[in-house]
Amino acid sequence: MSIRTQVITVFGGSGFIGRHLIRRLAKSGAIVRIATRNPTKAAFLKTAGAVGQIVPFATDVTKDESVARALQGADVAINLIGVLFERGAQTFQAAHVDTPARIARLAAANGVGRLVHVSALGADAGSASSYARSKAAGEQAVLSAFPAATILRPSVVFGPEDGFFNKFGAMAQIAPALPLIGGGTTRFQPVYVGDVAEAITAALSLDSAKGRSFELGGPRAYSFKELLQLTMKEVHRSRCLVPVPWTVAETLGGVLEKVPVLAPALTRDQVELLKRDNVVSPTAAGFADLGITALSSCEVVVPTYLARFIVGGRNPTVPGGAH
Ligand SMILES: NC(=O)c1ccc[n+]([C@@H]2O[C@H](COP(=O)([O-])OP(=O)(O)OC[C@H]3O[C@@H](n4cnc5c(N)ncnc54)[C@H](OP(=O)(O)O)[C@@H]3O)[C@@H](O)[C@H]2O)c1
Repeated sequence: MSIRTQVITVFGGSGFIGRHLIRRLAKSGAIVRIATRNPTKAAFLKTAGAVGQIVPFATDVTKDESVARALQGADVAINLIGVLFERGAQTFQAAHVDTPARIARLAAANGVGRLVHVSALGADAGSASSYARSKAAGEQAVLSAFPAATILRPSVVFGPEDGFFNKFGAMAQIAPALPLIGGGTTRFQPVYVGDVAEAITAALSLDSAKGRSFELGGPRAYSFKELLQLTMKEVHRSRCLVPVPWTVAETLGGVLEKVPVLAPALTRDQVELLKRDNVVSPTAAGFADLGITALSSCEVVVPTYLARFIVGGRNPTVPGGAH
């Protein structure tokens, strides 16, 4: 008798959370198909598994035929596609609503057994932020096409390639001051990327996760100001923290979002997002319901990768001193 190896299709698998997830999935022995716009960009992940186990798969998520091909023969689908700002054809509607809806519909039509969709904490149809509204609409679209899907909503995710601590660590290198947007009182519950990857793999094997949503936050909540202070401590930089009132931040976002760079430093929509605390609700299902109880904290993990911003490294050799 032969037992068929599981096939897992991961959309957005070349990204930040994806690369940590793929390494975990590879250990399970599954064939992992990374559905990506650019297979060359995902090629570095091939070494996470045995020869032929990790397969970058060119996919155009705007086309039914292409998504259906990526899902053909798959037992599991995971959607990690997301964007932080809109630019040209990259819209929240396309990335967070139309694409997940297409993946969910075609996963159901192609007999895929499990679907995990990664949304975001703060997804809310009534939010002033179009990012948060689009994440809520995406969740609805996924569940109506694939009612047994599992929805995961992480808070800010941290890890070696994150866009939060690295951004402010880099900023502390060159800027004389760091912005305390809205006074810096908004609270976040940063969650380690490895714990998010663990939650995704746990959700795949738990029947109780079918058709449910889970909020994923780390061991504790911090104010924005505390997170900037932690960053400055870890990069050995002392910078002035300048309160930026919401109205000024909105104007700044309006200017910065028009600067033709790859990723704007701030947008008006991000300012809207920053106005709301991003912490898990005490009544929501979370890590514990997925069987995960030991979570990594910022204090332990962040120093391991912010050290690259320290001039001379974390443990510089003292000339003439003991090593
Ligand atoms: N990182 C966080 O702090 C955080 C917090 C809460 C929620 N989330 C959510 O978690 C998911 C994964 O986050 P992440 O940080 O790993 O994301 P990421 O690295 O920024 O992007 C994930 C992938 O999305 C695909 N993608 C990006 N723009 C696209 C577009 N316009 N069209 C089609 N595909 C596009 C890319 O895949 P290819 O280039 O390979 O096609 C990319 O590798 C997202 O849904 C995100 O919103 C993240």
